Amino acid sequence: MKIAMIGSGYVGLVSGACFADFGHDVVCVDKDQSKIDRLNANIMPIYEPGLDALVKTNVDAGRLSFSTDLAGSVKGCDAVFIAVGTPSRRGDGHADLSYVYAAAKEIGEAIDPKTVVVTKSTVPVGTGDEVERIIRDVRPDLEFEVVSNPEFLREGAAIGDFKRPDRIVVGTDTEWAREVMRGVYRPLFLNESPILFTSRRSSELIKYAANAFLATKITFINEMADLCEKLGANVQDVSRGIGLDNRIGSKFLHAGPGYGGSCFPKDTLALLKTAQDNDTPVRIVEAVVQANDLRKRAMGRKIVNALGGDARGKRIALLGLTFKPNTDDMRDAPSIAIVQTLIDAGAEVYAHDPEGMEEAAKILPQVKMTESAYAAAQGADAVAIVTEWDAYRALDLAKLKGVMKGDVLVDLRNIYRPEEGAKAGFDYYSVGRSCT
Ligand code: UDX
Repeated sequence: MKIAMIGSGYVGLVSGACFADFGHDVVCVDKDQSKIDRLNANIMPIYEPGLDALVKTNVDAGRLSFSTDLAGSVKGCDAVFIAVGTPSRRGDGHADLSYVYAAAKEIGEAIDPKTVVVTKSTVPVGTGDEVERIIRDVRPDLEFEVVSNPEFLREGAAIGDFKRPDRIVVGTDTEWAREVMRGVYRPLFLNESPILFTSRRSSELIKYAANAFLATKITFINEMADLCEKLGANVQDVSRGIGLDNRIGSKFLHAGPGYGGSCFPKDTLALLKTAQDNDTPVRIVEAVVQANDLRKRAMGRKIVNALGGDARGKRIALLGLTFKPNTDDMRDAPSIAIVQTLIDAGAEVYAHDPEGMEEAAKILPQVKMTESAYAAAQGADAVAIVTEWDAYRALDLAKLKGVMKGDVLVDLRNIYRPEEGAKAGFDYYSVGRSCT
């Protein structure tokens, strides 16, 4: 099949490369000429494990190409995916759909009859209707279909998530469009990945509901962690104890400094706005958004408290700045609020991150970036593990302690056992474990 992917950012690029790997003929389109030039030179605009190799294999095999020419690229396609950005609109939290609508218009002007136009970007319920209207406006007599097909890709694991999905959701009421989508996902279909056909609006809502539910799980266990600290309980045991109940499930019950990233914060906010606009409060999601915002700064205060409540003139080393490991993404990372809290408290902040320092330096110019965890800890009063990179899971804790001035270790991801911290001579703090 012939597929065009409009938008070669995170979702577009991963999806395009994976579709090409399925054997389809794929062109990834972007307006940014320098991005396309770099992709043609096999330089990825994002850090995603395995992506450069996947792109190279498929480019070499002649199945994947890159272009800035949208009109030329969509000609003769069976399916055209819209995978452009939908950032939070400044001021009101609504998803900004101007890129989606601009792409829809250009696509409408250029596609052949019987093309399926697929929205892969996360878009509020009803966007598919608007995309259809825009295309209909420019080509009143064209036979086409607008389908919703949300992505559920985790950064750092996106290729695996694409190729072994829990489910594929396709929203359309039209049988011929369903048939095209079955063809697009045929290899997964053969691997028995469930494909769920729904109406377009249900499909659009599924994406938001899934992310809001996952954000709720995380926020719930984070609040249980706070309670564990007060009650002398251990959140990891509580998490295991509830997660073994199949109705609850064990995933996304890891307590930490709060969720961040490109999806959960933006999508929960957009869902709130949709709910408000439709006069249907979603109070649980409201509480989740608020609790998560408060939590990020609270984690900064946790570090200050570990230092006895006064961080003035103290040197604090943060290990990990990205919102999670295996990405260089700093969007809504808890580290941002943590740094702000520490700076406000008068501390000097040093940091190390395996992939995120370049990005982080733009957002956090106050932080002094260092070349290793040990370099960050040099002369520090406290070290805080903020992101659970593998590189921090096997630190030589005695060596770390040895280069520090103080003895405080705040493990915001619970990657060490309290005994290990104590054995290395640390005054060790973690999340939701009462021995802190
Ligand atoms: C998420 C969804 O998982 C994905 O399906 C969707 O399409 C996009 O958003 P991503 O943002 O890449 O993916 O990251 P994810 O691995 O889901 O983690 C999100 C945040 O939650 C991170 O900040 C992570 O540290 C945090 N988290 C996750 C926890 O604090 N505890 C957990 O148990 C799980």
